[in-house]
Amino acid sequence: MSLSPDHDPRQGTQECYNDLEGNKRLVGKFLKRVPAFRSLSDKRINQLINDFTIHTFHAGETVFYQTDNSTDLYIILEGGVKVTLLSEEGEEFVLADLHQGDFFGEMSLIDGKPRSASVIADEDSTFAVLERKRFLEAIKHDPEIAIDLLKSLVERLRNATEREESLAFLAVQQRLVRLFMKLAKDEGMKTAEGSYVVKKRTHKEIAERVGASRESISKVMKRLISNKRIIEDGDRFLISRDLFEDLDVQG
Ligand code: CMP
Repeated sequence: MSLSPDHDPRQGTQECYNDLEGNKRLVGKFLKRVPAFRSLSDKRINQLINDFTIHTFHAGETVFYQTDNSTDLYIILEGGVKVTLLSEEGEEFVLADLHQGDFFGEMSLIDGKPRSASVIADEDSTFAVLERKRFLEAIKHDPEIAIDLLKSLVERLRNATEREESLAFLAVQQRLVRLFMKLAKDEGMKTAEGSYVVKKRTHKEIAERVGASRESISKVMKRLISNKRIIEDGDRFLISRDLFEDLDVQG
């Protein structure tokens, strides 16, 4: 696909691509996988594709900041992002990691209020972007989009409730085990011995996802590594299934 960059002054360093046919193929491939558009006919999907623009960001670039006034919806065609809250001191709390096929920006899209969180590209990423006006028109045309979007919102709310429960009731080690359980489920390859292999994360990255200090994560990780619940293997973690049994025992 030959894409020609065309800088969009609305949103920082992003690039916008105008190869219409290439865009259509890319957006069409993913639109059916986005829950909000799942129930649309192929004909409607093909019409809707024309309303999207394509934007790319490099790893580490901010797509938008919490409190920004933008209202577009983003679908991840390639790459991944973290949805994050930043304290004034520059500390981060990562609310969610989103990957290919996921969407974000639906909250401001729905209520027109400022962004509830910042979104940062975790790797080089390409997004299909839909303006609020276009999305509202699409809902009027196909009300089932709204029903499907509600289901996704409820799923995010359930995840957020689970997260709040962890923060309120679980100790750092238990939160960390929960995070590893999620990683094992989402990306873990199972070995013959029943361990899970996931990408290695720094202590800082782990701390930002469990709401703990880097120092306390380092302490817990040291303990888990010394009793072989987690094994560091180059750029991977091997997670022993005993780790999850520990969580059951601790409740
Ligand atoms: P919006 O508020 O428009 O911009 C930030 C986006 O981050 C938000 O829409 C959602 O798409 C996403 N977001 C905010 N909070 C969460 C959360 N707890 N879990 C997953 N995604 C979220």
